[in-house]
Amino acid sequence: MSSTAKFTNITDVNNLNAWIEEARYLKRNPHIFKKVGAGKCIGLVFFNPSLRTRMSSQRAAQLLGMDTIVLNVGSDGWNLEMSDGAVMDQGAQEHIKDAIQVMSQYCDLLAVRAFADLKNREEDYSERILNDFIKYSDVPVISLESATGHPLQAFADMITIEEQRAEGRRPKVVLTWAPHPRALPQAVANSFVEWVKASDADLVITNPEGYDLAKEVTEGVKVEYDQDKAFADADFIYAKNWSSYEEYGKILSTDSAWQVTSEKMALTNNAKFMHCLPIRRNVVASDEVIDNSIVIKQAENRLFAAAVAFKKVLEQIE
Ligand code: CP
Repeated sequence: MSSTAKFTNITDVNNLNAWIEEARYLKRNPHIFKKVGAGKCIGLVFFNPSLRTRMSSQRAAQLLGMDTIVLNVGSDGWNLEMSDGAVMDQGAQEHIKDAIQVMSQYCDLLAVRAFADLKNREEDYSERILNDFIKYSDVPVISLESATGHPLQAFADMITIEEQRAEGRRPKVVLTWAPHPRALPQAVANSFVEWVKASDADLVITNPEGYDLAKEVTEGVKVEYDQDKAFADADFIYAKNWSSYEEYGKILSTDSAWQVTSEKMALTNNAKFMHCLPIRRNVVASDEVIDNSIVIKQAENRLFAAAVAFKKVLEQIE
């Protein structure tokens, strides 16, 4: 019996301001919710590498008094078959729908990280693995970053903007594409846009032509192809690389003119620089920009974002 409670998208957040305030309250009182998850267990399932998500999720569970089980699919489990109806006479020993049902017997929450593979847009945007977890798990599912979204990162980003914004000024937030040598998913950028749209801020996206995000994501948001123009009067610069959505998964540019430098930051309203990390220094942004940024504060807030997201889902199953 699958659960309707989940945290996979901004649509699972009933009151963003209240969630942000609860995370800030937890930050001031980190042990205040230690009984909320007592006797419960969260399974953290990773199909892809992670530093922040893995450590912050485990620590967040501890702050709620919850146990954790971590499974790295590539190295710890059996090879998983993903296709329905497959004749499993090749390398995969276990079907994903059996594995999910079994894992959900051991846990009260089941969290999963499964990136886009960037080969087929329709397949990635169908969120096959995340939706299999929602379909086959007996317990609520939490996204630790899926093919098209990273809600825990976006929640931490919203907490950080709330902490860092100037009093009495509606902040101008700019999401800028930045160069990168590898093809990366659109997940972080998609979620950042969706969550800023739900917040009290003005958002501008700047990217080279050919790098527009999906229209359903950017609807109602100004897209500016001139990065210098976009940076004017900005209070926050959020840099991220993503591969092309239009020519799906392709790198169309590695133009270093899009790197965020001190000269670029000088065009802003003394903006604070943000990035989800990990970041390639002197490719995405210069050392000087990163060393004078709020990226570590963002990473710290991953902990409180995760704890509040887990708590909200736990409250729905009690
Ligand atoms: N930002 C982020 O999700 O970091 P990890 O990939 O290290 O978890």
